[in-house]
Amino acid sequence: MTGFPTVRARRLRRTPAIRRMVTETRLDPSRLVLPAFVVNGEGIERPIATMPGHAQRSVDRVVDLAREAATAGIAGMILFGIPDEKDPEGTAAWDPDGPVPRALRAIKKAVPDLVLWADVCLCEYTIHGHCGPLRGTEVDNDAALPSLARAAVTYADAGADVVAPSDMMDGRVAAIRSGLDAAGHENVAVCSYAVKYASAYYGPFRDAAESAPAFGDRRSYQMDPANAREARREALLDVDEGADMIMVKPAGPYQDVIRDLRDRIDLPLVAYQVSGEMAMVEAAAAAGWIDRDRIIIESLTGIVRSGADIVITYFALDAARLIREQL
Ligand code: PBG
Ligand code: ZN
Repeated sequence: MTGFPTVRARRLRRTPAIRRMVTETRLDPSRLVLPAFVVNGEGIERPIATMPGHAQRSVDRVVDLAREAATAGIAGMILFGIPDEKDPEGTAAWDPDGPVPRALRAIKKAVPDLVLWADVCLCEYTIHGHCGPLRGTEVDNDAALPSLARAAVTYADAGADVVAPSDMMDGRVAAIRSGLDAAGHENVAVCSYAVKYASAYYGPFRDAAESAPAFGDRRSYQMDPANAREARREALLDVDEGADMIMVKPAGPYQDVIRDLRDRIDLPLVAYQVSGEMAMVEAAAAAGWIDRDRIIIESLTGIVRSGADIVITYFALDAARLIREQL
């Protein structure tokens, strides 16, 4: 008795109450993390043209946003900094008075329950916009490691709960872990952007963070979008180096990779729904071609269904509202 008409799949789709009961994937604001861009100054909220609803904010305004995020039940925020001055080494990345450390201290004080993440990379801080110092025209992997560790320690000193290296240098998780431990930050977690593809979906972010490479591209350190076996290898290497969480980025176009890593790695798995994924939704919604609210929920549901425990998303505040309204 295994087929129609005895079996009817529609029985469990009849009413909203039944559908809610049998749903396999439940979105919750407590698994969402909101990105924010921090600049120096006060009272600044400079809209980012390619990222509707998002802005470069001074510390006081980021604190306002943090309050909003906490009220909405969002897990945390991940901070990116835009310094006043850049140099070839990216030394502003470990300036304790830079925008990110100041924001971390202020948010920690005002909204202690929010999980504070700091993105760790050098591209926002180098004049050439690459994620490490150069040797000739190549990014010098090993020379980047002490700088990344130093930046991570600076953010931990300022109150970061999680540091998230996004540079894709080999060996950086181990370098950051030992730097943190040596500075007495053995309880600060490392979330590795282990599987970060060289993606065109980062375009809008690079406007926001003013971090586009001045020459060339990031393909000598970020991954080839064609590779999935290599993703497994990258993730396992970072598990081995002591990562506490593993990230896949972008999220939507790489759900096969999310699923594969979920099935193989027991650490919390993070997916980053990046700026380009958001921009496409906003553009189509602005044209009246799609239903923005439903697409937000559907895209996030897909990412969670494919195995992500935590999602970093520019839609975190919208999603929290929609989840509350049970869209
Ligand atoms: C910096 C960094 C990038 C993103 C997060 N950290 C951009 C890049 O690698 O060029 C992208 C985030 C987004 O597009 O939303 N290493
Ligand atoms: Zn970078």
